[in-house]
Amino acid sequence: MSPKLLTYFIIFIVILIRKDDAELIKMTKIFGKVVSLGLNDAPENSGCLTTCYESEDCILAYFDTTDRCLLFNFNETQKLEVEETTKADGFYVAFKMSMFQTTYQNDTCPSYNILSLQVNIGPDPITWKKSGTTFTFQKCIGDWKMFHRTGPEITVCMQPMLPPALLNITQSKEYCESMGYKLTGVATVEESKWILEKMKVVKPDWNYWQAFYIDGIRTKNCSDSNPQCNNFEWSDGYTVIDDAVLNSTNAMLTFHDDNYIPENCLGVVDMGSSLTINDITCETFALNVGLVCGYKLY
Ligand SMILES: *[C@@H]1O[C@H](CO)[C@@H](O)[C@H](O)[C@H]1NC(C)=O
Ligand SMILES: *[C@@H]1O[C@H](CO)[C@@H](O)[C@H](O)[C@H]1NC(C)=O
Ligand SMILES: *[C@@H]1O[C@H](CO)[C@@H](O)[C@H](O)[C@H]1NC(C)=O
Ligand SMILES: *[C@@H]1O[C@H](CO)[C@@H](O)[C@H](O)[C@H]1NC(C)=O
Ligand SMILES: *[C@@H]1O[C@H](CO)[C@@H](O)[C@H](O)[C@H]1NC(C)=O
Repeated sequence: MSPKLLTYFIIFIVILIRKDDAELIKMTKIFGKVVSLGLNDAPENSGCLTTCYESEDCILAYFDTTDRCLLFNFNETQKLEVEETTKADGFYVAFKMSMFQTTYQNDTCPSYNILSLQVNIGPDPITWKKSGTTFTFQKCIGDWKMFHRTGPEITVCMQPMLPPALLNITQSKEYCESMGYKLTGVATVEESKWILEKMKVVKPDWNYWQAFYIDGIRTKNCSDSNPQCNNFEWSDGYTVIDDAVLNSTNAMLTFHDDNYIPENCLGVVDMGSSLTINDITCETFALNVGLVCGYKLY
């Protein structure tokens, strides 16, 4: 055994219980501790690992040789860092992973250095990222959706919401900002399609043409010019839009409504077609019922 393996000798606990035919739940236990978190005040639980295994929302059990134990739940965790320690330190962490049989056919354990720890509880699979001797888990708040964007490489979180009253664009921005988020821009067609589907969950009595505001206001030179153009100003501070989002294959941009009321803001709207984005009035309007808040995760 190499010195490194001796130092970090890991114990795999493979619990071969199937949640359903395709999914295996497994606890992987290593010598390690949650960064900057001691266990002095933690309750005792000699069945810590099993408790986590059996609790649907638990993603990590952290315990020591005296059976003091802390459990971390998916819903309540946004960021968690675990560092490898040695046996002498007396701390353990057990990661819960679910594996699908297509990627994990054998009842054998993958070797430590190729170990990929993935959590499959929420809407998005989340991988513990390993850097040096630290594992980092990071997810969006609650059940917000995570989108990885390229160009630039960032990860954002977003959630469509229904404010208690009709709001205009300025108030919509303030609504998100009052909670520490932004009225989010949409960077890809995948994002606008997801928002459209989620809107129907947020507002079960939804109707065609009801809009949820997203970031973006047509630039003044475009809204005033003749012919008009489709340059928008973004205010969320992180959105770089993909050309396809406002393409006629995804957006219906008409500059004004049938009564020539200007429509210089953007909303995700079900238009009864494959299109997802419409230009809408920036003012309070009966059909502008919701908004989409977001933030840059990393
Ligand atoms: C996690 O939170 C979401 C929304 O807040 C909720 O719908 C879901 O049921 C929660 N999951 C668990 C396991 O508590
Ligand atoms: C299963 O084990 C066989 C041989 O032991 C190996 O070739 C194969 O790659 C393993 N499959 C997975 C998914 O680990
Ligand atoms: C939105 O409402 C605020 C507060 O009532 C108002 O100041 C603003 O002019 C309205 N219109 C827009 C487009 O923001
Ligand atoms: C409008 O102004 C923006 C900057 O505010 C500029 O990027 C854009 O090219 C202009 N568009 C036209 C059609 O003049
Ligand atoms: C925009 O849509 C047209 C078809 O209407 C398509 O040919 C073009 O490739 C699309 N452009 C982008 C950037 O998606």
